[in-house]
Amino acid sequence: MSFGGSGPGADAGRPDSGQQARVLISVDGLSKEYASRTGPISALESLDFTISEHEFVSVIGPSGCGKSTLIRLMVGLAAPDAGEVRFGGAALTAASAPALRRRMGYVIQDGGLFPHMRARDNVTVMARHLGWDRARIDARLADLARLTAFPEDGLGRYPAQLSGGQRQRVSLMRALMLEPDVLLLDEPLGALDPMIRFELQGELRDIFQSLGKTVVLVTHDIGEAGYFGDTIVLMRDGAIVQAGTIAELIDRPAEPFVERFITAQRGLIQALEERR
Ligand SMILES: Nc1ncnc2c1ncn2[C@@H]1O[C@H](COP(=O)(O)OP(=O)(O)OP(=O)(O)O)[C@@H](O)[C@H]1O
Ligand SMILES: [Mg+2]
Repeated sequence: MSFGGSGPGADAGRPDSGQQARVLISVDGLSKEYASRTGPISALESLDFTISEHEFVSVIGPSGCGKSTLIRLMVGLAAPDAGEVRFGGAALTAASAPALRRRMGYVIQDGGLFPHMRARDNVTVMARHLGWDRARIDARLADLARLTAFPEDGLGRYPAQLSGGQRQRVSLMRALMLEPDVLLLDEPLGALDPMIRFELQGELRDIFQSLGKTVVLVTHDIGEAGYFGDTIVLMRDGAIVQAGTIAELIDRPAEPFVERFITAQRGLIQALEERR
């Protein structure tokens, strides 16, 4: 990942590996405001960065800092007020978004499954819309169920009849169905109990490594961000505070907020350990 602009995190990207990785996504001067009764809310303020092919980027920051807004703009589900997103060199516009979106797998925060559709139909809805034949759909579905360790008999159930962890797997299968180049995952493990979350984190890391995709993962959890991500992007108030590896954020915080954010996440267990 590399960062333009002159913000404090501008030079904090990963060191150049020597190889010229191909830029897949570029975000230039991206800004977004929402109207509210008390005046406009600035959700994103002139973000600049690029993501290379096969890079894994974790986006993290306090609630309301603009993470979901950023993902929605990158998927083309909302339009920016200024700036643009380019995907494989092509500008994401209202006209180009539907075709480009087929190259992206998106997991919406809270899953976003259709409650009236069985798991199988949730996963295959786009493939059916695109006219894939039955055999191709069934083969892909079987592959995905194997990949995500989703029980075969769960495919016939409605979302409300699945556990939280199983629903997360259905969302992930749906995002992977069309073999996208990029996965954009908005807190895909957010609502899970810690044991299942831990289990799925391990499985997901294996899945991501075996697929070699470009992944943008939104999470609240710095441990999860460090566990998955090559690059961590820490946001606050619609702007990037620092971007770099977990080691860079810990060893060379760009400003006191970075240190406070990491310390706050170290958690009660460590505080208890230190008191022993
Ligand atoms: N549709 C909307 N209308 C008005 N304001 C919005 C809308 N969507 C988001 N916002 C506001 O924009 C800001 C950024 O919201 P966003 O959902 O991107 O945050 P987030 O970082 O994803 O938060 P969380 O971690 O809680 O999911 C917040 O102040 C939020 O209240
Ligand atoms: Mg969000």
